[in-house]
Amino acid sequence: MQPCSILAGCGGYLPERIVSNDELARTVDTSDEWIRERTGIRQRHFAAHHETTAFMGTAAARAALADAGATVDDVDAIILATSTPDQAFPATALRVQAALGVKRGFGFDLSAACAGFIYGLSVADGLIKARQATGVLVIGSEVYSRILNWQDRGTCVLFGDGAGAVFLRAAASDGEVDRRGILSTHIHAQGTLGDILYVDGAVGQPDHPGHLVMNGREVFRHAVTRLAEAVDEAMAANGLTHADIDWLVPHQANRRIIDAMGRKLSLPPERVVVTVDRHANTSAASVPLALAEARQDGRIRDGQLVLLEALGGGLTWGSALVRM
Ligand code: UT7
Repeated sequence: MQPCSILAGCGGYLPERIVSNDELARTVDTSDEWIRERTGIRQRHFAAHHETTAFMGTAAARAALADAGATVDDVDAIILATSTPDQAFPATALRVQAALGVKRGFGFDLSAACAGFIYGLSVADGLIKARQATGVLVIGSEVYSRILNWQDRGTCVLFGDGAGAVFLRAAASDGEVDRRGILSTHIHAQGTLGDILYVDGAVGQPDHPGHLVMNGREVFRHAVTRLAEAVDEAMAANGLTHADIDWLVPHQANRRIIDAMGRKLSLPPERVVVTVDRHANTSAASVPLALAEARQDGRIRDGQLVLLEALGGGLTWGSALVRM
């Protein structure tokens, strides 16, 4: 019998420092009104010097393990999705492995921008199904405040820092469609769209570390189309309809995109998890942070069907359908 991946626990970490739109507007040519109306963002968290991608990822991973009732001895793989690793190598995942005290298995970083956590879930599910791992931490951790161009008001007001994590454990599958765990993942990329959202540097470049560059209107246009396709693909693959979905946990980039996805699924707003107002866009951390929040406050309950989706630079996008 092929094992399946149970989403056993979730956790998150947000830096202590909260920056409101009004505080940003003191140094950036913008306003609280513009940011709220165009994006739904009210505030974001920015990391202090010690709050690195590894530091925040470790805290989120610890919370996910505690939520799962698991220990570091249950972990045999760590996948860390990030565009802001602490170092070129070793992988930030392995800094987390060391900080947690995990003494076996393997780990690696995954670069798929804002879709990184969905990619990570897909890879982890594959590892579990292939019997290469039995307990996988999938982490999204980002410090975008370190790669923002503060002269570009079209991007610097949109992002925040933070980390989210889940712990997946292998369980025997009974082959039923309504079993617990990851029912499906679908991941996609279109490299020809790489220039609509990118960072113009890296440690291999003479002018590293680089800054985030985005054609917001183009990304917005693709997000609405691609994410709608991804939702339909997940429904079709599982023989389900929109009415079967209990919760949508979308990537938190823009309230207008989130609302469009909710309408597409005919989900009432109270069935869509929204954190963009308080976290802004935390890239690969946004979906696991939102999931952790809605699990911890009791909104998402065991047995419910949850659709996760995200789109980011690359272009990368995808979905995961999970029964909690
Ligand atoms: O996580 C990866 C996925 N990312 C996304 O999904 C982001 C997708 N894109 C978006 O969310 C939106 O395109 C933005 C929020 C980035 C921008 O919203 P928009 O409605 O597309 O605005 P715009 O870029 O077309 O700019 C409209 C106006 C411009 O002024 P003019 O040319 O009309 O006079 C901008 O200069 O708003 C101006 N503007 C600002 N004004 C005040 C742009 N940024 C700001 C700002 N404050 N921060």
